[in-house]
Amino acid sequence: MERCRRTGERIRMTIDSVAFGGDGVGRSDGLVTFVPFTVDGDEVMAEVTERRGRYARAVLRQVLSPSDHRVEPECPYYGRCGGCSLQHVRYGHQLALKERHVADSFVRIGRFSNLPLRPVIPSPRAFSYRGRAEVHVQYGGGSEAKAGFMERGSHVLLDVERCILMADSMNDALSQLRRSLVKRKKGPVRREERLLWSVPDQGALSGDASPMPGLGRILRVIKETALYVPARGFFQANESLVDTLVDVVLELASPSAGDAILDAYCGSGLFSRFMAPRAGSVFGIEQDRSAVSCARENLLRAGFHDAQFHDGDVVEGLLDAQSRRLRIDVAVLDPPRTGCGREVLDALVELAPRRIVYVSCDPATQARDARSLADRGYVLAVLQPLDMFPQTSHIEVVALLEKT
Ligand SMILES: C[S@@+](CC[C@H](N)C(=O)[O-])C[C@H]1O[C@@H](n2cnc3c(N)ncnc32)[C@H](O)[C@@H]1O
Repeated sequence: MERCRRTGERIRMTIDSVAFGGDGVGRSDGLVTFVPFTVDGDEVMAEVTERRGRYARAVLRQVLSPSDHRVEPECPYYGRCGGCSLQHVRYGHQLALKERHVADSFVRIGRFSNLPLRPVIPSPRAFSYRGRAEVHVQYGGGSEAKAGFMERGSHVLLDVERCILMADSMNDALSQLRRSLVKRKKGPVRREERLLWSVPDQGALSGDASPMPGLGRILRVIKETALYVPARGFFQANESLVDTLVDVVLELASPSAGDAILDAYCGSGLFSRFMAPRAGSVFGIEQDRSAVSCARENLLRAGFHDAQFHDGDVVEGLLDAQSRRLRIDVAVLDPPRTGCGREVLDALVELAPRRIVYVSCDPATQARDARSLADRGYVLAVLQPLDMFPQTSHIEVVALLEKT
């Protein structure tokens, strides 16, 4: 029987699963209750903070009996900082939870059965893996300057001295940033965002290591290869797993000599750069102009003078390819969390690639888009999750869809 639960009421319950987003889920007298910072197997005392229809939300007050999956979080800001949600979970179990979430998305949202799901590839580093992070700074208003991340579920800035997910060189940069703001107490309160990048290890760099071409570019070393990316642009955050991500994309795309490759949402040409030596031609599409200019240069510097890039929206780029009757054999898609959506997929299907490699950091939108492709003649052949975001509930998945 489901009992009425009131805000402020304390309930004792066992956590039996972990939901998307990382909250533990338990039932108390039949009422589904979400409790952040718990894990399956925990017996907890929680306090109800919100009651909605058929479920409630609660905060953890006490772990009465810890799950075997529970570990002591390493970060002193854990629980307040909005960045991590799984630090209290043993790393091996984080991987199991994420694998289950990928499977759930493809079954529930994508309506697939017999999933071709491979085990999650773990991150070589469970901490200190971030090579890029957006931090917030606040100064003025007569107070000490702050630099860090937003508190969980709020717009309050948490002053973070050191983030254990970031590479050491980024923590040094964070300290320098804070020091540079110390004297800025006067004037109104100001908030800004800054992108921090790790300093890459160039020890393994082969080939072209010449200075950064142009202002505002950052050097990254991927598979012992120099790549330039815009200082204010996107790049894969987990520097310990990017090489493997590229290898998985290459394996699933398996381009042959002469193949025409589409790299949609190509950023600075990360995947184009490594597919070009194995394919006949590359056509990239990207709306961030500074990223397209890096992509052009990254391919030119490697000797791929014929690589073409469309500087604009993906739908426009695909329509441009259609109007020029470009042949596309293999398509790589790497959209933002919102996924591709109908218009992009309609235009892509017209080009009839025999293989589509879909890279995503949101299994829900990826499963939706994969269903749309499956309804139009593509078979879901491989799902390969990679843990690009340890200690958080996020997961990267590379899916292969093959034309029947
Ligand atoms: C997840 S990132 C992937 C970038 C690249 N594949 C990489 O791994 O470095 C997504 C990219 O899509 C671009 N993007 C987002 N929406 C777009 C759109 N509608 N048309 C073209 N590019 C878009 C963003 O600027 C970003 O560079």
